[in-house]
Amino acid sequence: MKDHYGRKINYMRLSITDLCNLRCVYCMPEEGIEKRPHKKNLSFEEMVDLVKAGVALGIDKIRLTGGEPLVRHGIIELVREIGQIPGIKDLTMTTNGILLPKYAKELKAAGLTRVNISLDTFDPEKYHKITRWGHVEDVLAGIKAAKEAGLHPIKINVVLIKGFNDNEIETFVHYTMENEVDVRFIELMPLGESSDYAEHQYLSNDEVLKRVPELQPLAEPDKSGPAEYYQLPGAKGRVGLINPISKHFCKECNRIRVTTDGKIKPCLHSNQEIDILALRKEGKTYEEIILHAIAEKPEKHHINDNEKQLLRNMNEIGG
Ligand code: GTP
Ligand code: 5AD
Ligand code: SF4
Repeated sequence: MKDHYGRKINYMRLSITDLCNLRCVYCMPEEGIEKRPHKKNLSFEEMVDLVKAGVALGIDKIRLTGGEPLVRHGIIELVREIGQIPGIKDLTMTTNGILLPKYAKELKAAGLTRVNISLDTFDPEKYHKITRWGHVEDVLAGIKAAKEAGLHPIKINVVLIKGFNDNEIETFVHYTMENEVDVRFIELMPLGESSDYAEHQYLSNDEVLKRVPELQPLAEPDKSGPAEYYQLPGAKGRVGLINPISKHFCKECNRIRVTTDGKIKPCLHSNQEIDILALRKEGKTYEEIILHAIAEKPEKHHINDNEKQLLRNMNEIGG
């Protein structure tokens, strides 16, 4: 399935809840968000039907995100149902890792292929501060549990924040020497509540290469996603740079996003949304709705133009 700009769309990101057990300061307000009535969210049944329609149109990679997907009741059953749909090559999850010690084994058994885990600092006090109350040892236990359960390859997402964790760049990079994981630095994006915060705390990922000049680009670039990968000589793991701000990767964009309340976002950085439940009421099929969303995908984002404020927070979009 191709869009108007010749991009092959094969990746659907489903935000299955906008609730979270943490409150990262760049993602959610401290008080959290108001719980929406269930009826306004997509049900698991609707999600599974949507995924089936996507697969019929060429989607073969599904990511479950949030909020924190592991706080939604019934998550294992959802993974099992989606995992059984023929045609899906990669069924993955982005999680803060806190609940992985409890769920990693069951997730693997239900058909999850791998996980991306968010971890912005190894320092317990700083972790507590950025997440507003989290304990870093819970995430480290989550990484261990994911490894033991065989949820490979594990990717660790580090949002690079000026004056907060830029002094840990070397520590994160050196973590890949002995650990077979991808550590990926993500440039802080201005979204919803984080717009002001991002303006002052943004740091380009070029800083990583400046601080660790020994990093070598991979001989064979990994084209599977937006991260550019590097490696330290002799390292077991890799270092990825996700640069949505300094070098946008819109030309290679292969994804659509679905919010918890049933809107398809053709682009992360646009306020445009396609209302699945409203279109279903008008009698449109899921396939027609997905095709409509893909037809609406813009050529590129305009966050650097400072044109418009993005209305939604990341916890509603799922990254
Ligand atoms: P892999 O399949 O493991 O490579 O995952 P992924 O990078 O698609 O997923 P993940 O949820 O770990 O995404 C990491 C972060 O990269 C997202 O949360 C966003 O912050 C950023 N990102 C991913 N895709 C896009 C995109 O299309 N546009 C922009 N601007 N940022 C993106
Ligand atoms: N900018 C960049 N990354 C963000 N994430 C959440 N909010 C932002 C933001 N404003 C990250 C999370 C998670 C991934 C899904 O997106 O830390 O790793
Ligand atoms: Fe929760 Fe992830 Fe947002 Fe942090 S970034 S508050 S872990 S959804």
